[in-house]
Amino acid sequence: MTRCDHTTAWVALQGHFQAHGRDLDLREAFARDAGRCAAFAFDAPEVYADLSKNLIDIATLRLLVELAQDCGVPARRDAMFAGQAINTTEGRAVLHTALRAPPGAGPHSAEVHQVLNAMLAFAEQVRADSGVSGFTDIVHIGIGGSDLGPQMVTGALDSVAHPAKRLHFVSNVDAHDITRVLRRLDARRTLFIVASKTFTTQETMTNAALARAWFVAQTGRDDAALVARHFAATTTNVAAAAQFGITTTFGFWDWVGGRYSLWSAIGLPVAIAIGAAGFRDFLAGAHAMDRHFAEAPPARNLPLVLGLLDVWYRNFHGFASRSVAPYHQGLARLPAYLQQLEMESNGKRVDQAGDTLPYATSPVVWGEAGTNGQHAYYQMLHQGSDVIPVEFIAVKTPAHAHADSHHKLLANCLAQSQALMLGKTTAEALGEAAPTAAAGLDPAVLARHRTFPGNRPSTTLVLDTLSPRSLGALVALYEHRVFTSGAVWGINSFDQWGVELGKALCGQLLPRFASRDTSGLDASTAGLLARLTA
Ligand code: F6P
Repeated sequence: MTRCDHTTAWVALQGHFQAHGRDLDLREAFARDAGRCAAFAFDAPEVYADLSKNLIDIATLRLLVELAQDCGVPARRDAMFAGQAINTTEGRAVLHTALRAPPGAGPHSAEVHQVLNAMLAFAEQVRADSGVSGFTDIVHIGIGGSDLGPQMVTGALDSVAHPAKRLHFVSNVDAHDITRVLRRLDARRTLFIVASKTFTTQETMTNAALARAWFVAQTGRDDAALVARHFAATTTNVAAAAQFGITTTFGFWDWVGGRYSLWSAIGLPVAIAIGAAGFRDFLAGAHAMDRHFAEAPPARNLPLVLGLLDVWYRNFHGFASRSVAPYHQGLARLPAYLQQLEMESNGKRVDQAGDTLPYATSPVVWGEAGTNGQHAYYQMLHQGSDVIPVEFIAVKTPAHAHADSHHKLLANCLAQSQALMLGKTTAEALGEAAPTAAAGLDPAVLARHRTFPGNRPSTTLVLDTLSPRSLGALVALYEHRVFTSGAVWGINSFDQWGVELGKALCGQLLPRFASRDTSGLDASTAGLLARLTA
């Protein structure tokens, strides 16, 4: 496949950027074209997207779509859906989409639905057991893809979650994390779910062992049958779970990447929270987005267009980060979830053949739920020296009855994207009163401080409600968007070799904390080790 920067479309985009892209002024673009908002409005399943406040025109979109064609994105997408081993460095298919296909519709359908049915039956059993020995607290132990998805989704869907089942998430190897959770629990009413694709991850294995030791100490019984009743596992490594003493295990497969595993048995805490029907709706929302990605025409294909927009900003404008601003408290963990999805997938510097790429890949993705971010870092978004595209997420109808709060939330959301785009000229600032300004300050100086450059791009995604179905669609939208930019960049979005070196060095350093041996280490690490072990 032709490398993206060698395609005709890339060269055309460079010319377009010089001629029209770099200096596109959003305020002028809206003034010139009454149809701009409609032209850049997208309707995908469950998600409406307003892309009109982005630094694009119709020609940009046309050329970006040509870029996707030139880079073979549609063919690669079809290969993914068909189960080809597109994760070439690990020789694996990439089939998280099969996990949300209806029975009989996707690859591996029989085994997918067999595990799904068993997992959902177990979730329903946990939900239904309200007796004195029923579980009130569920502690989910996992990290990365075995933590962020379930944690984000259960937070988002709290309003429809079982009111008597409290979910706790433990991920960090820092034992403060598990200690904080365990000290409030009654072992007799607690279910632990050990979630790990490999069942070898240091953090998860350490925390699982701590949990079991705590459980035995609390119950005063080191009884295999009792441990087996209170521990379940979600993993591809059933043998290792059995070795640990877990007999209730829900499996998945090597063709499900860790950061794409939310839809597999890893979603068990989600199923316990929202029930089998809710989980099936969640899968159905994602499947609807899969169909959109597979079938919608490229210029109207929302994940494709968003992925291409990411390329436009990263490689032509040179923007190094993107901020995610969910105006819904339930989505507070979405930025963290997207960090893994996007940066572990596309934070690569070589192509499929291992050749070093001459262009930038994954941006830094970061953010915070609105309106909290406004009182922290939005200053920089509005007046800082870097341009950072912002992605607002608004939900039309809340799950509470406080209309006043919700209108304030939404007004803030719209106001921020408006302020980023419109800015404020120095002349406008000069004409305004500034009651908190220092007495005697030159008005011209003050006006320069109060000038907003504007023309800062943003996207606004709108959901009607935050439901299992709409959240499923939203997450699948992000997955396919990351797929698209990764496919344009020609990288393998499905491996993660970059996490290995630190793990290996940690393995070598760990015994030195007991031996205090600093021999052979670089001077900085030796000094720090000596300081920490003195
Ligand atoms: O951080 C590396 C990683 O392999 C992630 O890709 C994965 O989600 C996480 O560790 C957890 O791995 P596991 O599910 O095997 O415990």
